[in-house]
Amino acid sequence: MSIDEVVREHWATRAGFILAAVGSAVGLGNIWRFPFQVGQEGGSAFLLMYLFFILLIGLPAMLVEFAVGRHTERNPVGALGAIGGRAWRYVGGLFILIGFVILSYYSVVAGWVLRYFVGSFTGAYAADPEAYFVGIATGFDALAFHAIFMAATVAIVALGVRRGIELAVKLMVPSIVLVMLGLAVYAATLPEVGDAYAYYLSPDFGVLIDDWRSIVPAAAGQAFFTLSLGMGVMITYASYLAEDRNLAEDGTVIIGFDTGIAILTGLIVFPILFAAGIGAADPGPGAVFVALAGAFAEIRFGMLFGILFFGMFSIAALSSAISLIEVVVSYVIDERGLDRPTATAIVGGGMFVLGAPVALLSADGAPIMVDLYDILAAEILLVTGGILLMGLIAWGNPGLAIGELEKGIGDLGTSATVWIWLVRIPVVVVLLVSLALAVVGYAEFLTGPFAEFVSG
Ligand code: TRP
Repeated sequence: MSIDEVVREHWATRAGFILAAVGSAVGLGNIWRFPFQVGQEGGSAFLLMYLFFILLIGLPAMLVEFAVGRHTERNPVGALGAIGGRAWRYVGGLFILIGFVILSYYSVVAGWVLRYFVGSFTGAYAADPEAYFVGIATGFDALAFHAIFMAATVAIVALGVRRGIELAVKLMVPSIVLVMLGLAVYAATLPEVGDAYAYYLSPDFGVLIDDWRSIVPAAAGQAFFTLSLGMGVMITYASYLAEDRNLAEDGTVIIGFDTGIAILTGLIVFPILFAAGIGAADPGPGAVFVALAGAFAEIRFGMLFGILFFGMFSIAALSSAISLIEVVVSYVIDERGLDRPTATAIVGGGMFVLGAPVALLSADGAPIMVDLYDILAAEILLVTGGILLMGLIAWGNPGLAIGELEKGIGDLGTSATVWIWLVRIPVVVVLLVSLALAVVGYAEFLTGPFAEFVSG
């Protein structure tokens, strides 16, 4: 046991923990990834499947991560090793690696957001939204804003759990919620709002039946991504918790917030797009940027709207990025014995380098690496991490998880058994099916669109 474990920091308040977890969950996943997945996977049909997965998989998986974290008070490597034995340290190592991969490209996309925020003060993107995106998405701007975003993340996390993360999220999360509510109210006054709501909110079951092979893995990947599950963020954050919290209650609040914000994003984004006559976004990671910037150029008060939107969006990305880097940093501190500022700077530097190809490589102006990293991370790596973790806990150590949950609640009786069996069979089966479909889909992507991009 190292010195750091003896003096491990704890959250100062319950709100601090909840806000940190909400700040982690709410980010590019809600505001960037979610609308373009909705657009790509058939509108409301995707929304329905996603909501189903949040309840079926998201909540139980989050509680598993909380139980592991609070029980062991360790980073994911130490935590899984303590529960499952030496071999499980490698699974923990996989989690660290996943965090590394995700933040490397997440920071590039967040850099775009920051670039748009800066650009929105001059309305720089209004003249030709398409060309603007091409100009900033790869190349010097992309690399520079990737660096700025990563530096901001490092600066906060280097300050520590209470003085850095907790303080930051206490300022950031309430402002995100306020701005989003304001934007949604404004969006409701736009013309064509009825069509936008209809596209977004009335499920077409035909699409679900025709396209389930891509909708299922996309919805599962999105559920993990948006809730920050499958790589140990919630293990790490729960490792800074005191014993007496009611984990189930906290998990429900966190998921409620994240899902609320995702739904709210749709209520903002789709009316804006419909009002500007753009309709649902074309598929692809650039779509939200191009389409929204185009819309801000068209609608009433578009400039102000753009500043608020991209400002709030930058903050949301930052509060998620700090959770991703914290997982890796906590591992380096606990297991490698570095001090926090050094650990944070080294990890941030490494992530910057891994993300550089995403910021630099393009084909016909389109960034070609984002999908490559993103589909791999969300649909394959996170889902694999989730399956391994659920297996370790629900099959291998159910008593531990139940005991941990009961600490803040009292005797759970049969609901504990129901929870364990829900995780053991339906959740694991759905995830295995989803993983298999994702692997097939990814192989098709690599040999199809990606190969074309690379050779074209
Ligand atoms: N959930 C965040 C978002 O939606 C991103 C994120 C933070 C994340 N930590 C994570 C995704 C851990 C996967 C795993 O933007």
